[in-house]
Amino acid sequence: MGSVLITGASSGIGETFAREYASRGADLILVARSEEKLDAISGDLSRRHGVRVTTLQADLSLPESAENLVARCREGSLSIGTLVNNAGFGLNAPFGPESIDELESMLILHNLTLMKLTALLLPDMQKRNRGGILNVSSITAFQGVPFNAVYAATKAFILSFSEALREELRGSGINVCAVCPGLTRTAIFDIAGIDPDKTLLPIGAPEPVVKSAIRALEKNRPFVVPGLYNKIMIHGGRLLPRSVMVRLGMLLARNDKPEKPRSHPSETAGTA
Ligand SMILES: NC(=O)c1ccc[n+]([C@@H]2O[C@H](COP(=O)([O-])OP(=O)(O)OC[C@H]3O[C@@H](n4cnc5c(N)ncnc54)[C@H](OP(=O)(O)O)[C@@H]3O)[C@@H](O)[C@H]2O)c1
Repeated sequence: MGSVLITGASSGIGETFAREYASRGADLILVARSEEKLDAISGDLSRRHGVRVTTLQADLSLPESAENLVARCREGSLSIGTLVNNAGFGLNAPFGPESIDELESMLILHNLTLMKLTALLLPDMQKRNRGGILNVSSITAFQGVPFNAVYAATKAFILSFSEALREELRGSGINVCAVCPGLTRTAIFDIAGIDPDKTLLPIGAPEPVVKSAIRALEKNRPFVVPGLYNKIMIHGGRLLPRSVMVRLGMLLARNDKPEKPRSHPSETAGTA
């Protein structure tokens, strides 16, 4: 069956994926930069559920990180049945030259590494005629979001890429799905500089997001927007002109005037 590899498993939605898959008896490969957090989660899950958990410390915002990670999995003879591309961070700031480094890391982490991990792990899934690829996008994938312009664009890439790949793999036994959560209470807001309680959107817990994502992957849905309010907003919003949705995106996503970007998320502590 193969293990479930989860990127960004040290907190928030990724940790919740780890807990949910472990409770279903799946062996796990957990990836993030925070080794201690991964080890604590690994110990807890193997004790509680008797599953085998491998932790791999990696900074996936580096260009060759996907190749290195897959090589380490092969060295450890780890086979991957399901890939959960979840690692990510937000940046709520005016677009400009100050944030180029941070945005480059974001593009690599959200898009380049996600694409490469998918490409490198796909052939083994194809040999087994079985597998799952679950990509964490966002409700920001459906329209541009001012002050989060690059973040929203990376999430649109993830949605578009996932939809196309799913169709390409139809009938192969490999399911592909993008999960597009709305505001979800995790560490992402501290890192992105957003107070989620000041936005006009409701904020949910990670558990229902993860359950609905796994259900959608099992049914091979192209994408899922967890939560009734988010579903109404996104599906209803498709009837509006895109320019109107972008303006609404600004009203909804922005709370305080964004601050200037910090240097890199790893130096502070990881937006819908
Ligand atoms: N929370 C929301 O409202 C929301 C809504 C829509 C979509 N999302 C998406 O959900 C995903 C998970 O975010 P979250 O809300 O759970 O935030 P989180 O609690 O901050 O978790 C982010 C995870 O990504 C990992 N990560 C960040 N940079 C990394 C890097 N360079 N290399 C490897 N791992 C890295 C972090 O681990 P380390 O710091 O240990 O590396 C952490 O495990 C993201 O893709 C985010 O865009 C979140």
